[in-house]
Amino acid sequence: MIQSFNKINKVSGKLSLPGDKSISHRALLISSLADGKSYIKNISNSDDVNSTINCLRELGIRIEVDNNETIVFGSGFKGYQKPFKPLNAGNSGTTARLLAGILAAQNFESTIIGDESLSSRPMKRVIEPITQMGSRIESSDVKLPLKIFPVDNLNSIKYAMPVASAQVKSAILLAGLHLSEQTSVIESIQTRNHTENLLGLSVAKEGNDVISSVSRSNYPVAKEYFIPGDISSAMFFIVLTLLTKNSELLIKDISLNPTRIECLSLLKRMGGNIHIEEKGISNNEIYGDLLVKSSDLSNVKIDEEIIPLIIDEIPILVIAGIFAEGAFQLRGATELRVKESDRIKAICRNLLKIGLDLKEYEDGFSFLGKIKKSFEPFASFGDHRIAMAFAILSLLMNGGGSVEGFDCVSISNPNFLEQLSSITH
Ligand code: S3P
Repeated sequence: MIQSFNKINKVSGKLSLPGDKSISHRALLISSLADGKSYIKNISNSDDVNSTINCLRELGIRIEVDNNETIVFGSGFKGYQKPFKPLNAGNSGTTARLLAGILAAQNFESTIIGDESLSSRPMKRVIEPITQMGSRIESSDVKLPLKIFPVDNLNSIKYAMPVASAQVKSAILLAGLHLSEQTSVIESIQTRNHTENLLGLSVAKEGNDVISSVSRSNYPVAKEYFIPGDISSAMFFIVLTLLTKNSELLIKDISLNPTRIECLSLLKRMGGNIHIEEKGISNNEIYGDLLVKSSDLSNVKIDEEIIPLIIDEIPILVIAGIFAEGAFQLRGATELRVKESDRIKAICRNLLKIGLDLKEYEDGFSFLGKIKKSFEPFASFGDHRIAMAFAILSLLMNGGGSVEGFDCVSISNPNFLEQLSSITH
């Protein structure tokens, strides 16, 4: 499906967005492990989170999804049922990797499969630590499908992360949740900490290292969750507002988790007028309101250490970079090559269509110059964040633009177009 966009004149109004995708996955998984009913408000309505719901249902978990509230009837310790068929994680890396950790600790055999994109993504990073814990996993070339066999006992580990990945860290912590001895994960850069927050884990700092620890004593009880709005989805509207003249947008009850808002700090360093107001905290997750106003932006140096903290927002930060003064440069971001698409390739192929002076590197890219031409449609590469980033670019270009394969936006935000039309004029 090709979606066309006309240039907009103004952004105004306010938005409340469905819950953060990463927090929603974890609230579902953790609720499914607890004994009894958990109530989740403002859960993400994304295809990815639906993949987690579907897998949990295959594992015998009853989940009632309502507009206002999702009820999860948790099974208690090792209470999942052996699934009748492979668990399909769809496009969702978070579903596949976090479930692998939980399933390693169950008493039955299970298989995780996914769509074409997910089946080409690396799983060695999760197989390795879980195997160190004593699990037996068969895979095809360390990719999906993963076949996870029951073992008599897992052992706890102390694991220093070789790649910055919240999914791998969470898989280890969720496996460790089933063991009486303490399991620890050591990170040199702290990735998103939602698993730690929702389980109330202890997190220690030793020099530059951040150490998250878990044991059976942290096993969850059934409770209520409020999921703050998805900051990664909000970023598309934030950048659109900053780059449109005479515009102002209020975004309500959005996640302000410190491990997620480096993207806002970066935009502020670029000159973005973004006012952040913290309003509350739910299950250790901070949320609040953002007031965003039109701004003149300049490109700034992006330090390699912050890349894991802005990894999902890079496609839309690139769009900000096109309209900002000076050259944009991103290096040290090889991880982008193993996301829902090869995002370095996807971004560069699309940027070539607007005639920028572009250089592609194995670990990033740089560009300079103004939009000279437009050979659209832009290509989504079946990747939701690429589709939405180039939709925003289309809305900002004289003469508008279009994006091919746009339906993949439902992977993270099925209501993107409605939200957009409610704030644009
Ligand atoms: C996520 C972690 C990140 C991120 C992904 C969601 C999570 O992936 O890119 O969209 O919910 O834990 P990695 O763990 O591969 O860095």
